[in-house]
Amino acid sequence: MLSLNYSPKLFRICLGSAIITLTGLVFFWSRRPSRNMMYDLHFNSEAEQSAEVALTTGNRYVKFKQLNGIGFNNQAQEVLLYHHLALESNRIYVYQPLSWLPRNNEQVPLSAFLAGPTAGSINEAHFHKVCSWRDVVHIKLATNSRSQWNHAKQVLRGGERCIVVDDWIMTWDFLASPDFSNIWGSFQEYLKKHFEWSLPIKYIADRTQRKLGLLPARGGEPYMALHLRRGDFEGHCPGLARKQLGFTTWASLPILLPSILGPPFNRTDPVSVVQHCYPSLDRIFEAITVQARRNPHIHRLHILHDAMDERQYNDLVTKLKDPAQTARAGWTGGPMQAITQSSDIPIQKCERDWEVCLDEEIGRRAAVFIGNGYSSLSSQIIALRLGADRGNVEDVMLY
Ligand SMILES: *[C@@H]1O[C@H](CO)[C@@H](O)[C@H](O)[C@H]1NC(C)=O
Repeated sequence: MLSLNYSPKLFRICLGSAIITLTGLVFFWSRRPSRNMMYDLHFNSEAEQSAEVALTTGNRYVKFKQLNGIGFNNQAQEVLLYHHLALESNRIYVYQPLSWLPRNNEQVPLSAFLAGPTAGSINEAHFHKVCSWRDVVHIKLATNSRSQWNHAKQVLRGGERCIVVDDWIMTWDFLASPDFSNIWGSFQEYLKKHFEWSLPIKYIADRTQRKLGLLPARGGEPYMALHLRRGDFEGHCPGLARKQLGFTTWASLPILLPSILGPPFNRTDPVSVVQHCYPSLDRIFEAITVQARRNPHIHRLHILHDAMDERQYNDLVTKLKDPAQTARAGWTGGPMQAITQSSDIPIQKCERDWEVCLDEEIGRRAAVFIGNGYSSLSSQIIALRLGADRGNVEDVMLY
């Protein structure tokens, strides 16, 4: 006999999926959905999913201290590392909204950007429902020992059900330490399994590739992506040189040493730091040349950049499309035939918040990526290529 069991759990799952589907439909049907409506839908589905996750008994939770008021990539990097740490300690990650710098630090739903860290996790509001202040144990994780990561993992593997971490461990010292490079092995697995953009970002990235003729490496004309970090870096780079800082996070992985354009990078030499951090046009051309010689079949280039000087940009493009100059530089396959840039991405007004994510995804999908070792955007692209996609180090270049 057919028995109709009313299951509240099933009902919640259905409601959750209904909202997610609705989000998708609103996105696909309306050319210009209102931004706030999109965000409300994401906030609502986050609440539904959190309630669903919290139904499982025996869950243990951790909420970290995270930085606000910094750029998207710095926040995203922390979110991914903390989510990874929570999973490695068998805890549910308690996520927080992103604070959106271009809009006065307005809070935006994390799931509208990164779908990975919110799946199977709970939001901050729901954490307060499942963990009353009496249940919460406050701890600190910073240690002077060389293995900050393992120390954190060990502490978090304790039996307390609800943990709030009161100190911040993603310091520059930690991110630049050998201990940090040791996380790479497990972080690659993490990215492969758990990294995922939100649906709209994937959709706009597909649209961008179609409209700009930037086809994926397989089954079409491949493209190189070049990330030029200009803007505030003109003033930022001499400061990095004074502090003798090396490349940022994943860009400093030892496996990337052969991918750094010569002469050998020397972080105690200010000239070398500025050379890599704010390269001349000749140097940028040289980096593209290395890859053009290696990949004579690639004739498309997409340039990701923020506020690059227009004259400089035009000079570079002219040189890259010039048969004579590229032939002299040893490009056997001929010059670039099509060059596009970030501002060509077919983006609607209400989609502007995703621009940085799109740059990142387009750089990730390129056959070859050339980037800046001091930029968190470049370093995220490299992590996704090598970690999530198991790409080749030879297809990555740091100028
Ligand atoms: C790096 O630069 C410093 C300062 O210019 C110099 O003293 C040192 O010899 C250089 N190291 C290498 C390996 O070239």
